[in-house]
Amino acid sequence: MKKLAVIDSGIGGLSVVRELLKLNKEIEINYFGDNLRVPYGNMSRDEILSCMENILDFLYEKGVTDCLVACNTMSSAILNTNYTHKIKLYNIVTPAIDEVKNLGLRKMAILATKFTIASKEYDKRLKEIGATDLLEMASASLAALIENFDDNRDIIEDELTEYKKCIDSGDYKTLILGCTHYEFIDSVFKDLMPELSFIKPAELLAKSFDMSGLSKGDFKIYTTKGKDTYLRSLRTLNIDKKLNIQDYIEI
Ligand code: DGL
Repeated sequence: MKKLAVIDSGIGGLSVVRELLKLNKEIEINYFGDNLRVPYGNMSRDEILSCMENILDFLYEKGVTDCLVACNTMSSAILNTNYTHKIKLYNIVTPAIDEVKNLGLRKMAILATKFTIASKEYDKRLKEIGATDLLEMASASLAALIENFDDNRDIIEDELTEYKKCIDSGDYKTLILGCTHYEFIDSVFKDLMPELSFIKPAELLAKSFDMSGLSKGDFKIYTTKGKDTYLRSLRTLNIDKKLNIQDYIEI
């Protein structure tokens, strides 16, 4: 029997959980959000890998066998390295690239964290499949602002409006939401950029994952900080699965 985990630097990975539960409400999900250290997107690769290793070791002790890396930043940090863990890992970049390939897209914009953009993991893979016209936009602040979305809504909308100007001036019609935090507020993106199509890696990761053989059970959240943030976020996402939250986990 497989036991599933979903990991992120914070609440962004809940956008993957939302999609998983749309497909199957019964599965046991062990979520880890490192809200004490978010954002990972401004860290170095070594720092990201070290945090990730600690999270995975913790989850391995809980019996987890399979883990969705619901974070573009962590996924970019492990792609093209020989990083492995006793837990089987599923990165979020590959399903997004597969979608672009299936749609035959050649031109698009991507918004992601500083680390994800600097790693060039999207850029390289998109170019390999012929998507050569890419507008890359890096945000150092958006993920952390989305952690407290209700308080930061105006600043977030102002920042997104600036990205929209760049997207429009290059006549881009598709935007990759290259950070799971952004998918958390996908409705805000849709409202501000109604004429764009979105590639949503979180949704695609959930859909590409083979759920056969997974244990059934509750939704457990382990976080280094931020129980209230989770309770608020779950309400925003309409996730109502039976829940158990453990706060202040030390990793
Ligand atoms: N949600 C993450 C991502 O998909 C990480 C954001 C951050 O911690 O900077 O990249």
